[in-house]
Amino acid sequence: MNIIVADHYEALSKEAAKIIEEQLQTKLGSVLGLATGSTPLGLYEELIQGHRERDVSYKHVHTLNLDEYVGLDKHHPQSYHVFMNKRLFNHINIPLKQTHIPSGDASSLLDECKRYELVIDEVGPPDIQVLGIGQNGHIGFNEPGSSFAGITHITELAHSTREANARFFSSPEDVPTHAITMGIKSILKSKHILLLASGAKKAAAIQRLLTGEANEAFPASALYGHPNVTLIVDKEAYKEME
Ligand code: F6R
Repeated sequence: MNIIVADHYEALSKEAAKIIEEQLQTKLGSVLGLATGSTPLGLYEELIQGHRERDVSYKHVHTLNLDEYVGLDKHHPQSYHVFMNKRLFNHINIPLKQTHIPSGDASSLLDECKRYELVIDEVGPPDIQVLGIGQNGHIGFNEPGSSFAGITHITELAHSTREANARFFSSPEDVPTHAITMGIKSILKSKHILLLASGAKKAAAIQRLLTGEANEAFPASALYGHPNVTLIVDKEAYKEME
C-alpha cells in the first residue's frame, strides 16, 4: 500500500485530484469509481476547478458510483444521484448517460443488484476507484462482517453508519435503514484504489487498517488483497501512527 500523508484536508484533496487528472491524461476514456460522503467533496471541488481552469475534459469518461440508499428515488435531495449531480457532474462536461449509480427505488432490488454488477463488468472495471472509510472500517456500505467475496447487494446499514450520516437528514429516523452497494469483490476489480481518510475521527480506523490483518470483521482490510492501493490521509487521520 502506497501511503501519502498530506498536511491537511485541502492538500489531501489536491493529491487525489492530481492522481485522477494524471489518469485522465493517460486515457481520455478512463473509468472512475466514485464515492459520496464528506471526504471526497474537496477532491470533487478540485476536479471542477481543473475542468474550468486547466481544461480537463470528462467528455469520454465513465463513472460508477459505489452505492445508493434503498427507498430514495433519484430526485430525493439526500439521494446519491442528487449528491453526485450537485457536487460534481453538473459542473464538468460529462454526459450524464456515462454516469452510473445503482437505483435505490427499483421495483426489484435483487434485479437491480444483478443489473449493476453487469454494468460494472461492461463499463468497468474502474481505472481508479475512490473510497472513503467508515469509522467502523466499512468501504462502500460493506459493513463489518460483509463477505470479501460479495458482489453488488442490499445491505443493512450499521447503527453507527446511520448516526454518522444523520447530519445530512432532517432527523436521524429519516436515514434509510438499507443501501444497495457494490460488494467487496466488485470493488477489488478496480485497477487502482484511492482510499481517502481525513480527520481525527478516522484515526482509529486508519491505525487498524495499517496494523491489522485481513479480516471480514474490518472490511477495509480486504484492501490488503489488492496490488495497487494508494491511501491518502491527512495528519489528523494519521495522528495515532506517529
Ligand atoms: C460513500 C460510501 C461510504 C463513505 C464512508 C465515509 O459512497 O460508500 O463508505 O465513504 O461512510 O463517509 P464520510 O466521507 O462522510 O466520512
